[in-house]
Amino acid sequence: MFKDKIITRSPEETKKLGEKLAESFSPGEVVALFGPLGSGKTCLTQGICSGLEVKDFVVSPSFVLINEYEGKFKVYHIDLFRLERLSEIINLGYEEYFFGEGICIIEWAEKAIKLLPEKRMEIYLKILSENERKITICKF
Ligand SMILES: Nc1ncnc2c1ncn2[C@@H]1O[C@H](COP(=O)(O)OP(=O)(O)OP(=O)(O)O)[C@@H](O)[C@H]1O
Ligand SMILES: [Mg+2]
Repeated sequence: MFKDKIITRSPEETKKLGEKLAESFSPGEVVALFGPLGSGKTCLTQGICSGLEVKDFVVSPSFVLINEYEGKFKVYHIDLFRLERLSEIINLGYEEYFFGEGICIIEWAEKAIKLLPEKRMEIYLKILSENERKITICKF
């Protein structure tokens, strides 16, 4: 397992980190994001999408669960905050997202941890202060 820890000191720095991470992504990459409200999961996702050459403005998909983008690869941005039962994501056809050829980024990944592939990247975000986030990246 590979593990890396970084402290970012602004939303811009978190986006830059996402852009940099995206450079190493290949089709099928699954990125599970963990961290409380406002810790920067969407901000990091915006950076990843930018690094994947997504031109659309990336917003939180809380109400629709999944947003799809076209970049260098197809990108699925999933937010499970409002997920109440696992069946909701199963009925949406999770296999295509979690085991397909696109890049899949999941906020509140703990809510569907049982469905996620073992081979995934996990990113933990911790709020240190108003503008500081500790970001831990684990690759299995
Ligand atoms: N270093 C930082 N990195 C990322 N965001 C930061 C940082 N410092 C301050 N912020 C602020 O923290 C907030 C992060 O919001 P964001 O929507 O990315 O969080 P989130 O983890 O997706 O929350 P939610 O669980 O509600 O989806 C933004 O308002 C952003 O401006
Ligand atoms: Mg979010």
